[in-house]
Amino acid sequence: MSKTLVVYFSRTGEQYSVGNILRGNTAIVAEIIAQKTGGDMFEIKVVNDNYPTAYMALTDFAKKEKQQQARPEIVGGVDNIDEYDTVFVGYPNWWGDMPMPVYTFLEKYDLSDKKVYNFCTHEGSGGVHKDDFALHGHVAQNYRAQTEKEVSAWLNKINIL
Ligand SMILES: Cc1cc2nc3c(=O)[nH]c(=O)nc-3n(C[C@H](O)[C@H](O)[C@H](O)COP(=O)(O)O)c2cc1C
Repeated sequence: MSKTLVVYFSRTGEQYSVGNILRGNTAIVAEIIAQKTGGDMFEIKVVNDNYPTAYMALTDFAKKEKQQQARPEIVGGVDNIDEYDTVFVGYPNWWGDMPMPVYTFLEKYDLSDKKVYNFCTHEGSGGVHKDDFALHGHVAQNYRAQTEKEVSAWLNKINIL
């Protein structure tokens, strides 16, 4: 039996082109993937979360974190990681990169024997490798039907659905 895990990092608060959001753009995509695959979800959250909720302040904060190659400690973990054979890893594009807590997660677990697919949301720079998925954050936030359709098309393309 194939078992799927959807790991993601996502922020609420003020985000680019969507105003103040209560559910993160990437979180919305993660939820749709989990629904369609029957997968479990794990949200990467940092211990002592100091990320600003104002957009400009968040970009400054994230830039410093990237410059420092910080590895913020994350809350909890996936105890039964061995049970999963397929892992989706989702994040917002931050400065052309993954947010540093996603690195913390990826350095903590050996996923080398699993099928790993990345997905990201972004607002313009969504270039991805073959088999990965990128979507504009404001589309995920505001256009549910389109988002579901694009996620389904991707899952079909990679032979998950
Ligand atoms: C710190 C920060 C850096 C960002 N850098 C980029 C970028 O380099 N390219 C881009 O297209 N979007 C960038 N964005 C926009 C986000 O990728 C986009 O708004 C995303 O959908 C936010 O997802 P979330 O709500 O799941 O956190 C950035 C946003 C933040 C907060």
